[in-house]
Amino acid sequence: MSAKTEDRKLPLIVLTSPLPAEFKDLLDGRVRVRVFKHPEPLSDDMLCRRLKGASGAVTLPSDSVTAKVFNACPALKVVANCAVGTDNVDLEAAGNLGVVVTHTPEVLTEASADAAWTLLLSIARHGVAGDRLVRRGRFKGWQPDLLLGMDLRGKVLGIVGMGRIGRAVARRAPAFGMHVVYTQRHRLKPSQESALSARFLPLDELVATADVVSLHCPLTPETHHLMDRKRLTAMKEGALLVNISRGGVVDEAALVDCLRAGHLGGAGLDVYENEPALAEGLTRIANTMLLPHIASAGRETRAAMARLAVSDCLAVIEGREPAFRVV
Ligand code: DGY
Repeated sequence: MSAKTEDRKLPLIVLTSPLPAEFKDLLDGRVRVRVFKHPEPLSDDMLCRRLKGASGAVTLPSDSVTAKVFNACPALKVVANCAVGTDNVDLEAAGNLGVVVTHTPEVLTEASADAAWTLLLSIARHGVAGDRLVRRGRFKGWQPDLLLGMDLRGKVLGIVGMGRIGRAVARRAPAFGMHVVYTQRHRLKPSQESALSARFLPLDELVATADVVSLHCPLTPETHHLMDRKRLTAMKEGALLVNISRGGVVDEAALVDCLRAGHLGGAGLDVYENEPALAEGLTRIANTMLLPHIASAGRETRAAMARLAVSDCLAVIEGREPAFRVV
C-alpha cells in the first residue's frame, strides 16, 4: 500500500483557518489535516462544502456551525471551537446528532481579563481621544481641564457574569481601588465572594449602582440584549460600559443613542452585535474604544487555545474524553 493510500485511510481534520501554533507533534501520522487559508467568517453553506468528509473540525467563533452543517457532514464527530464562547455553534443540533463540541476556556482567562481592563482604563481616562488629539497636532501643552476622566479609586465596578473571566477581572480591581459588585444566575459561595471582596446584586440593582459595568456572560437566548435600552438608560449618568463577551448581549443601536445623548460616559467594546459590521454612528462617538475582537489575542494565549482545540479534536476522534467538552 502506498503512503498516499495509507494516508487516505486516516481521519480528516479540517481547520477553517490557519492557527498561530505549531502542532505537528500532536497530529503527525494520526490524522490528515486540511487548513483553509482565508480567515474570513464562514457561512454555514461554506462550511458544508469545506467540512465534507471530515471527522473533525477546528472552528473559529466567526464560523456559523448550524444544524445545516451537521446534517450535511455526517462523518463529523467533533467540532472543536477555538474560543470559550460557543454561541456560533448549534449545540442542540450537535447533541441530537451525537457530535461532540469542545471549547477553550482557562487558557484565555488572564489575557481576556487584561483586555477588559485595557478598555476600562482607556475609556475612563480618554485614552483614544488623547492619542487622537496628539497625533492631530492639537496638543498645546498641559492644561488643568484637558480630557478630564473618571477617577477609578472608590468607584463601583459591576461585573455581569462571574465565571472564570469575570472573576479574573474582579481580582484586578483592588489594584485600582474599585469596589466590586457582581451578578449572575448562581451566586458564588460566601468564601469566594469574600476572597474576591465582591458583593452580589440582582442585575437591575447592579446596573443602577455601578460606575462601570463590565459584561462577561455568554450569549444565549436569555442574555440576548440583556443590556437593552431600558437597562442602558438605567445606568448612572456618566457611567461606562465594557463588553468583551459577545456583541448580542447589548442592544448596540440603543447604546449608540445613550452615548450620543451623553447619558453614558463611554464604552469600551471588543465585540459587536453583527460582527464585523458596526451599528450606525458608533465610530463617530468620541469616548469609545473599539477593538476588533482581540480580547484573547496574547501570543502565548492564542497558541495555547489553538493547541487545546486541536488536541481535543484529536481526543474525540481517537475515542478519548476531551479536556473541555460542551456537549
Ligand atoms: C472567546 O474565546 O469566546 C473569544 O471571544 C475569542 O477570542
